[in-house]
Amino acid sequence: MKILYLKNRVIYTALLIIIILIIITILIFDIHTSHSYPDIDITHIEEKEIDGDNLIEIKGENERREILLQKYKEKKLIALTFDDGPSKYTEGLIDELKKRNVPATFFLLGENAQKFPSAIQLEVDAGNEIGIHSYKHNLFTKLTNNEINEQILLTKYMIFSEVDIHISLIRVPYGSINDRVNEVLKENHLTNILWTVDSKDWKFRNVTKIYNYVLKNIKGNDIILMHDIYSTSVKSATLLVDKLQSDGYVFLTVSELLEIENLAKN
Ligand code: NI
Repeated sequence: MKILYLKNRVIYTALLIIIILIIITILIFDIHTSHSYPDIDITHIEEKEIDGDNLIEIKGENERREILLQKYKEKKLIALTFDDGPSKYTEGLIDELKKRNVPATFFLLGENAQKFPSAIQLEVDAGNEIGIHSYKHNLFTKLTNNEINEQILLTKYMIFSEVDIHISLIRVPYGSINDRVNEVLKENHLTNILWTVDSKDWKFRNVTKIYNYVLKNIKGNDIILMHDIYSTSVKSATLLVDKLQSDGYVFLTVSELLEIENLAKN
């Protein structure tokens, strides 16, 4: 009786140890997998960006360059840019641009990206380019290097919380720049983009005035500055796209325009 009891005890203990070992193995595996966060893979992002270039179907690099150069020579290129968004008007703007197959470049304000996060994915999905404006629209020339870095990183954080993209462009608030600010931007691998035509939409707040002013000042190969935080800007942008498309203008993102300008220089 006592031997049988001991034998059973040994078997139970052995079983118990095996079960505990199995549980520990499962736990370790689980903890390991749940804690292995994926790092941001920059190479992967760059690859995706190249894949996503659908402006001109890539048949061969030389042929693509030829097409881009030809377009540049025609001086009928426009990069539409929108600052300070997203806002409650952004989704409507994205829809109108998408219907017309027009990509734009959005320089996001971190603060507003936080308020309207869903617009960011929509912007990217519709083939638009995203750049940084700042977090709180401060004059960068009045900020310390650390404060500028903070504005950039916070805005990047808001954008990366929504989309997996690479950001290479910034438009500093008010276009206010000096050598020191430029150095900080360079350290962040950002190129500052200004504009050639200011639509003055922030001042006019009137569809007809904005529309006429832009048409009067446009010459081709322009970067137009607008703001997607006013309904009048969105409405006039839509009308301008219709008019300019019928006049033979081709819309592209700022990066595409810069690429063409670089090609033309060489
Ligand atoms: Ni601004």
